Amino acid sequence: MKIIESPAEMQRFSESARLAGGRIALVPTMGYLHEGHLSLMREGRRRASVLVASLFVNPTQFGPREDLDSYPRDMERDCRLMETVAVDVLFAPQASAMYPPGAQTWVEVTELTRDLCGASRPGHFRGVTTVVAKLFNIVKPHYALFGAKDYQQLCAVRQMVRDLNFDVEIVPMPTVREEDGLAMSSRNSYLSAAERTAALSLSRALQAACKAFAHGERGAGRLAQIARLELERMGGVAVEYVEVRDAVDLREIATVQAPAVVAIAARVGRTRLIDNMVLGGAE
Ligand code: PAF
Repeated sequence: MKIIESPAEMQRFSESARLAGGRIALVPTMGYLHEGHLSLMREGRRRASVLVASLFVNPTQFGPREDLDSYPRDMERDCRLMETVAVDVLFAPQASAMYPPGAQTWVEVTELTRDLCGASRPGHFRGVTTVVAKLFNIVKPHYALFGAKDYQQLCAVRQMVRDLNFDVEIVPMPTVREEDGLAMSSRNSYLSAAERTAALSLSRALQAACKAFAHGERGAGRLAQIARLELERMGGVAVEYVEVRDAVDLREIATVQAPAVVAIAARVGRTRLIDNMVLGGAE
């Protein structure tokens, strides 16, 4: 696996891969890889002749009181894991190379990022879409793979690609879960054993809503309430939101007529976790 740190060198590499007829897949990550990331990389490997993974803990998507400094990092382990799924190039820039002094351009998807996680993390999605736009311009991928666990991020990236005519296909991939249902996340490493047990309430709550939907419940408020009750039943979880929204544009709905997403954000101890499941359609 080749490691490239410089954006200019990455651009040159991608340009010549394209000229040689290569198809490039990009898996953007902030590292501390788990099976969810690896599933994206395997799919990228299947689709493209050149598989690029990026590892960049993007400072602009963290708020001032968030976990940028403590975000888990283990580059050696990440490199070993990337080798197992045959990543060709790891793009791992320094923050100073991604945001040289004087940078003043942002990419912002407005409506879609206002609610849900956008409401409690001001500036977060602006940081995400800005860095993803930069990664697209640097890596020049034909495909970019994103996990559905970060559902609002996936919607925002799709919207950005549509609005700004990026010539890249966004490939969404299903959330990968531990055997007991916990959605995989690098932030799960923050959880103590007791918190890890409490965190199971998120997937249980989503399953409760899915079950009610399967039994014919279509009221968005009712479905959200069913999820909330399950989420709060065992304690140890501070709910930030439980919402049932349109699965494509995340707008509020009264009844589920087209695919909808049940989305949850909650704190377990000091760790903020998110999870979601789609009702009535593929993710
Ligand atoms: O999902 C993530 O890990 C990050 O938000 C991403 C897409 C790599 C952008 O920094």
